[in-house]
Amino acid sequence: MRISSALFSAMICLSACATSHAQERSKDKAEVSQAALKGKIDYCKTCHGLQGQGFRGSYPMPRLAGQQPEYLVNQLQAFIERRRNNPVMFNVAHVLTPQMEKALAEQFNHLDPKPLGGGPKENLTEGKDIYLKGIPKSDVPPCASCHGDDAKGRDAFPRLAGQLHDYVYKKLTNWDKERGQDKNNPDNSAIMQPIAHNLTDAQIRAVAGYLSTIE
Ligand code: HEC
Ligand code: HEC
Repeated sequence: MRISSALFSAMICLSACATSHAQERSKDKAEVSQAALKGKIDYCKTCHGLQGQGFRGSYPMPRLAGQQPEYLVNQLQAFIERRRNNPVMFNVAHVLTPQMEKALAEQFNHLDPKPLGGGPKENLTEGKDIYLKGIPKSDVPPCASCHGDDAKGRDAFPRLAGQLHDYVYKKLTNWDKERGQDKNNPDNSAIMQPIAHNLTDAQIRAVAGYLSTIE
């Protein structure tokens, strides 16, 4: 019951959000030049890795390669509107036009490097089990039911395959402090909130380790 109602509200929000974004974009028709696009991508890659595979500096920079364009644009918008809390990405994103956001999202979607790696290898079987079957006794639905069996995502459901384990760990443990920060303007982050909340620290480590190995 809980699982199907979560999925149901997910579908409502996803279709409503997609419509309003499409309307916003059609207002502004300015073109993106190839030179401007290349300049931006080179800039993104200084942090997100030369092939968009992610980068581990003093902070884990997430993989953008192969990410779903709709999800990627949603996140840029969330940083700009401070629904998603991150000062670095606010500065990066607030200067982008809607056309540039879309063009960047398409470019990153086409990259397909191997996962960066470096994750823990001990609990891959447990991680895979959580991903495919969920944890019924804790009301955690199978991750695969939304993110796909291959973890490639779809539309507003993000790709998780090959994502950095330490990035995924941080996002799931800090969900309430970083995502859905404008209570008057709820977004898709609400779909993940109870799921992140119901996972234990050890379960998050296991599933994050598993995801970091998927190509
Ligand atoms: C100075 C470093 C830096 C630059 C340059 C940068 N980013 Fe980021 N980006 C980050 C960090 C750090 C995060 C992780 C934020 C977090 O932990 O929530 C991030 C997160 C993101 C996310 C969210 C990913 C997800 O899986 O939810 C997107 C999308 C993104 N960046 C796109 C871009 C794009 C597009 C560019 C180029 C226009 C860019 N970034 C340039 C540092 C950077
Ligand atoms: C009911 C659908 C649903 C299920 C089930 C689900 N997710 Fe999600 N997940 C989402 C949506 C939608 C988002 C994007 C939220 C947003 O746009 O802010 C998301 C985002 C995420 C993110 C953030 C990605 C990033 O790049 O920052 C992670 C990590 C994640 N999910 C992991 C999981 C794991 C692990 C499970 C299983 C334990 C799971 N999800 C189950 C719908 C779901």
